[in-house]
Amino acid sequence: MAAEKTPVENLTEDQAAAELEFLASEIARHDVLYHQGDAPEIPDADYDALKRRNDAIETRFPGLQRSDSPTLRVGSAPLAAFAQVTHARPMLSLDNTFSDADVADFVGAVYRFLGRLPDGSIAFTAEPKIDGLSMSIRYENGRLVSAATRGDGTTGENVTANIRTISEIPQKLPAGAPAVVEVRGEVYMAKSAFLELNAQMEAEGRQTYVNPRNTAAGSLRQLDPKVTASRKLKFFAYAWGEMSDMPADTQLGMVEKFKEWGFPVNPLMKRLTSVEDILAHYHEIGLQRPELDYDIDGVVYKVDELELQRRLGFRSRSPRWATAHKFPAEQAFTTVENIDIQVGRTGALTPVARLTPITVGGVVVTNATLHNEDYIKGIGNSGDRIRPEDHDIRIGDTVIVQRAGDVIPQVRDVVMEKRPSDASAYVFPKKCPVCGSHAVREKNEKTGKLDSVTRCTGGFVCRAQATEHLKHFVSRNAYDIEGLGSKQVDFFFEAEDPALQIRTAPDIFTLKKRQEQSSLTKLENIEGFGRVSVRKLFDAIDERRSIALNRFIYALGIRHVGETTAKLLARHYGTYEAFNQSMKEAADLSGDAWTDLNNIEGIGEIVARAIVEFFKEPRNIEVVKSLLEEVTPQAAEPLAASDSPVAGKTVVFTGALERFTRDEAKARAESLGAKVAGSVSKKTDIVVAGPGAGSKLAKAAELGVQTMDEDEWLALIGG
Ligand code: IVH
Repeated sequence: MAAEKTPVENLTEDQAAAELEFLASEIARHDVLYHQGDAPEIPDADYDALKRRNDAIETRFPGLQRSDSPTLRVGSAPLAAFAQVTHARPMLSLDNTFSDADVADFVGAVYRFLGRLPDGSIAFTAEPKIDGLSMSIRYENGRLVSAATRGDGTTGENVTANIRTISEIPQKLPAGAPAVVEVRGEVYMAKSAFLELNAQMEAEGRQTYVNPRNTAAGSLRQLDPKVTASRKLKFFAYAWGEMSDMPADTQLGMVEKFKEWGFPVNPLMKRLTSVEDILAHYHEIGLQRPELDYDIDGVVYKVDELELQRRLGFRSRSPRWATAHKFPAEQAFTTVENIDIQVGRTGALTPVARLTPITVGGVVVTNATLHNEDYIKGIGNSGDRIRPEDHDIRIGDTVIVQRAGDVIPQVRDVVMEKRPSDASAYVFPKKCPVCGSHAVREKNEKTGKLDSVTRCTGGFVCRAQATEHLKHFVSRNAYDIEGLGSKQVDFFFEAEDPALQIRTAPDIFTLKKRQEQSSLTKLENIEGFGRVSVRKLFDAIDERRSIALNRFIYALGIRHVGETTAKLLARHYGTYEAFNQSMKEAADLSGDAWTDLNNIEGIGEIVARAIVEFFKEPRNIEVVKSLLEEVTPQAAEPLAASDSPVAGKTVVFTGALERFTRDEAKARAESLGAKVAGSVSKKTDIVVAGPGAGSKLAKAAELGVQTMDEDEWLALIGG
């Protein structure tokens, strides 16, 4: 087949890129067919020809090599690993609840949001929270076409070949199933299979695995599906992504459908209405936990009716209609060997207890965070005692360590009877252990109380702050530069040679140029780099010269500005120029720009202040300016439903609403792409006023802002 094609030497770059894309997927497809033991579609000779053609094109256009290139998959080199898949619908996570009271709050909030009295009329499902890996499995016209891990929720890894080896997962759906079905659930390893595997590893003198979850993850992230096949993985279906048709209108109905279609579903799922019944089922599952042949770490509650789920909608990362009620943390005793201080990106000094290694709930724990000076003394964030006065944490103490799920282990208490007679109270440092600058606890202007965090005052002078800042900049949810991890950041930061040094974010983007101009230290000659990895690093850097505005803002590392706030800012201002201009205008913490910033729902005064302060600092202005010479933040994506008549409009709700609760009205408007503000200003487009509206309505009239009542609003957004 290669013979009929344009000779490689005559290909244009565009043709070459297109063909490499085709070859990557085609060769991967044949690999799957081959590994599955299904009848391969083509003879080996043709397969080899495809690979030779791919090699020849890559040799002529080395810059075009793809991350999913078949060349990188030769042998079992796991370097290139799996191709990325963008989920048709994001895979969200769940909010956690820990106490009975939290569960009652969750149920109460559902009723409140929907504007209903808590009369027990809303049904919830309760089912075990499986401690495995979430997976999205897609069927088209009844056939399994792809399977992907959760990844960051937006994109995951394509593990189709491995998922096909799990016999519990149907390859085909029965006739009558919708044309597009995405079944979601948890892949896990049975406890019995895990113990068997470890016994075998031990008998062979090989290292044993830590727990079923990690083993299942390792078994799936194998490039060779034969290894996955040998691991006897299992599956529970409990959710869905894209569906061309909905076969049921309740959560339970959907799960029953999955069962009919041949998926394993959890037998402990129940439909309940009262908080008491929900909690009773939680305790019942807790009692059964030790006997179950799979690890679970809590119970998931979901609103049963899908129409109510739709109305409840989502917060930024999790649905309002579900929550995970976690089992209590597991505890163990160990000793504190030392207390180290870590200095973070914002200068916070965090004490960390170095522990004698101990297994807590199946995981070896060697460190535990001690949070801050007060925590060591036994005082919580609100100033209250969390441990008796003499239970301060000292080096040498025997302590109770607690681990809950993936949360960082904590030291809960000190066993006083075991305190060594020579143990002395820990003295929190007054200086930054990294740069020697003063470390201080700031006073909160509002409350007059001391902040619980001790901060290094060294700013950019402090090596720890500067490197942590860079690490944040390149991290997964910020710039996500592959090949520039924590170790590499430390290396480039410490480098003496100006052709190698990275001290600030813009330096990352000038590295290649500096390397090309320097005849001295070539990166590729440095141990741990090499020609291919250097080229890949430069490619990865170049790829990020254009970046989504929200990621850009998040990467700046402004205090209190996490991903959610960065998204709000990007959505509100649209372009970096507009954002920057407004922050300059807001510098004196007054005027329209300042009001506008404070009016963004979800941004409070502390956050607003931090943002404005950031843009007042000359050093930040300088770094951002140099950065913008290298990179271009893209205008924020048009809002979700950009064809809705209210997309991009700023709406204020005032007065009593009769058809919605305030929360639902707001969530609904936002899902249609509108911005909801708390007060009326020149930038307001629509004021929706219910009975009893007062000053806001008057202000709208004064400014000539369009006003309407609830029914007009409903007509506008289509009911
Ligand atoms: S529902 C939109 N049900 O927990 C919510 N999740 O913390 C979809 N998980 O990523 C998830 N058992 O991996 C749901 N019965 C269950 C679950 C479950 C385990 C995992 C899942 C998810 C994580 C959220």
